[in-house]
Amino acid sequence: MARTIAELAGALHDAHIRAGRIGLVPTMGSLHEGHLSLVDRAVAGVDVTVVSIFVNPMQFGPGEDLDRYPRDLERDRALCDARGADIVFAPEVAELYPDGGALVTVDPGRLADRFCGTARPGHFRGVLTVVAKLFSIVRPDVAVFGRKDLQQAVLVRRMTADLDFGVEIDVAPIVREADGLALSSRNAYLSAAEREQAVGLVRGLEAARRAYRAGGRTAAGLEEQVRAEVRSRPLLDLEYVGVVRMADLEPVDPAGPASAVLVAARCGTTRLIDNVLLDGAP
Ligand code: PAF
Repeated sequence: MARTIAELAGALHDAHIRAGRIGLVPTMGSLHEGHLSLVDRAVAGVDVTVVSIFVNPMQFGPGEDLDRYPRDLERDRALCDARGADIVFAPEVAELYPDGGALVTVDPGRLADRFCGTARPGHFRGVLTVVAKLFSIVRPDVAVFGRKDLQQAVLVRRMTADLDFGVEIDVAPIVREADGLALSSRNAYLSAAEREQAVGLVRGLEAARRAYRAGGRTAAGLEEQVRAEVRSRPLLDLEYVGVVRMADLEPVDPAGPASAVLVAARCGTTRLIDNVLLDGAP
């Protein structure tokens, strides 16, 4: 495991990896099967897989869960080893932000003024800044992100293209519990009653997809399918629902085959997000 940028550079050099393809799986740790599916994907496709584990303070707003975000580095490291990752890069905050923060940051532009960006001002600036730093430190050929954070994946793709990072961005399918709830480190915060109602998000998305397949195309009609499922569960408080073009998250009406439905809701004090491709994998 590398705890510093210098140790990582040494590990990459020792592995003689410059001749092979490097894959990066950026995470904030507290790894679950969703993250591990990203590791599997990297391991299958590249010569050297680096998993970064860093709870990035810059992407948490005041009053968010930075302090209580679950951390268990030894467990995460063992899981990465078991799945065949070559290097775990787990820097301290001071290693990535020696001055306490970044003065020059990545501006996510107007794509961050909607959906999660509205509820979490500054979040995507923090995400893109740390991802840019990780790209500079690791210099991967490929980086793997989960589709559950669709807005993040779209923004990372866009940053990579606009700033010419030359990294291939691979977006992996959502991994779900048996009842459909999208895996998330934050699911650990849910009480038993909240956990039961949390499936309202995926039930709503499934209903929207059924409606689409039955010929429903208006954004309002598809969104109402989600709203109805969320409304019927009193512990859920809808934050947003939207029908968008997958590639750039622009709202679309009518919906088409390249559209996705995004949803976010509070379940007690926990914020949950999910999405579905109307014409693709759940
Ligand atoms: O998706 C996450 O876990 C984080 O936003 C990421 C991409 C690791 C950046 O901190």
